[in-house]
Amino acid sequence: MQDWNKDDMFGYQFLNGCNPVMIRKCMKIPDSFPVTDEMVEGCLKRGRKLQDELQAGNICIVDFEILKEVPTSKERYLTAPICLLYKNELDQMLPIAIQLLMPHVCFTIAINSKAREKLISEDGIITKVGSISGAGMVILMQNAMKTLTFKSLCLPEDIKVRGMEDVPKYYYRDDGMMIWEAIHSFVSAVVKIYYDSNKAVQKDVEIQGFVKDVVFGMNNFDKFPKSLNSQEQLVEYLTVVIFTASAQHAAVNFGQFDWYGWIPNSLSTMRKPPPQQKGQVDMKYIMESLPDCVCSSMVLGTVWALSRTQENERLLGMYPDMYFTEQPAMEAIKTFYNKLEEVTKIIKSRNEKSTLPYWYLSPDKIPNSVAI
Ligand SMILES: [Fe+2]
Repeated sequence: MQDWNKDDMFGYQFLNGCNPVMIRKCMKIPDSFPVTDEMVEGCLKRGRKLQDELQAGNICIVDFEILKEVPTSKERYLTAPICLLYKNELDQMLPIAIQLLMPHVCFTIAINSKAREKLISEDGIITKVGSISGAGMVILMQNAMKTLTFKSLCLPEDIKVRGMEDVPKYYYRDDGMMIWEAIHSFVSAVVKIYYDSNKAVQKDVEIQGFVKDVVFGMNNFDKFPKSLNSQEQLVEYLTVVIFTASAQHAAVNFGQFDWYGWIPNSLSTMRKPPPQQKGQVDMKYIMESLPDCVCSSMVLGTVWALSRTQENERLLGMYPDMYFTEQPAMEAIKTFYNKLEEVTKIIKSRNEKSTLPYWYLSPDKIPNSVAI
């Protein structure tokens, strides 16, 4: 099975795997699966339009509609996928739906539901070790959501709005800006390959649907885009998603053990109220205020686990799954990777001169997605 992750092995299994009866010839793309010519252009090797390939009988579809809305066991997840396959000139069956953001959302649903259940739920770890009650957590999150805007997720604007352009030794900003720019020019290059005009962006029903999904159910949806009308807007939007899932998360996540692992440095809760007047506090009062041993060890265990990276972590700029096979896209990935290597070098040489190195935004330590 050394080829299990290859496209043709994926397609092969619909023909000769354990369930060879789901694949059908596709004469018309279903309305629920809006694939356009632009999206599949690079994959249709005979140089024909999707409509012609459909008529020629070279497109197949696997639709797991029967899985829709089937109840699942606790903590088990299910999706009802649809897959289009293309019979190429070598008679291989290949999947063709391109998904730019796939590597950047890897394991995110899993870790998010774990976090909702184990960390921030009414009786979760944060309530157990912290001061905020279960009900308080909900209010805290509602409050945080009020301040969240699309622009606050764009690093250059966020720095400006907070007036932090000139503060020295703000490594989060300095390193973050280098990474933001690297992601931005990578995304620009890729978007230019697949969208030749603003119209092409406006007409991409999947992208427009994705943007609508993001704001669905949000209270402050007026602070987020509801559609994307130009290549430029698409580039900015994708840059936000990739930057947030990779660099921003790394910056806020991987320092947890460094900063919260030493309990007196940032106690999760206090057992006594803060003093009202100066000079009243002695060591006894401090010790009685600090979290007890049980609480402290729970904090230690949690921040230790949350600061781990995985073995074989997929880092920013690594796209081993080959979602793109077209030459210009492969070149854009290579340029992106080289740029990130340069950033790593700059950060490394700065850190060598520093007594307290800042490495959370060094690209060789930034995973591609929020997975912990
Ligand atoms: Fe995290």
